[in-house]
Amino acid sequence: MNYNRICLSAVALTATLAGPLTAQDATQGQELYVAYCATCHGADATGTGPMAELIAVETPDLTGLSARNGGVFPAVMVASQIDGRDLMLAHGGQMPLFGRFFEGDEAVALATPSGQPMMTSQPIADLLAWLESIQS
Ligand code: HEC
Repeated sequence: MNYNRICLSAVALTATLAGPLTAQDATQGQELYVAYCATCHGADATGTGPMAELIAVETPDLTGLSARNGGVFPAVMVASQIDGRDLMLAHGGQMPLFGRFFEGDEAVALATPSGQPMMTSQPIADLLAWLESIQS
């Protein structure tokens, strides 16, 4: 690989990262939520789904994510909980329930409060948009 080519790839990479951030579809996110999360976290996301009482640990109220994080929606934390980067037993521990499913075909870049773009998949981006829209 010659020097010019290396420069070009660097420019292309920078353009991708600095480019417009992914469009997030909260309606799509809500559909995913109802299908995959509501049994435990509840249809209104307050932690009272039908499976919640069968689980020994408390199922968190997902409308209070921002409130519990100093008023800022913890997008990176939530994405890691869903895709299994943060191992959590209720979500399948070492065998994440959702990681594979939500991988999506393409990685997308999301803005985060720190200004550092976060790479995730379109379904997770949509889920985050809906969850952020329901914060109390
Ligand atoms: C099998 C029941 C179950 C399902 C299905 C489930 N969760 Fe959870 N979730 C839990 C439990 C229980 C916890 C708390 C685990 C703990 O504290 O160790 C949790 C924790 C979380 C947390 C961390 C909240 C916090 O304040 O720390 C997030 C975010 C979350 N879930 C999002 C989701 C999303 C989004 C989905 C759907 C893709 C989902 N969960 C599906 C049971 C479930």
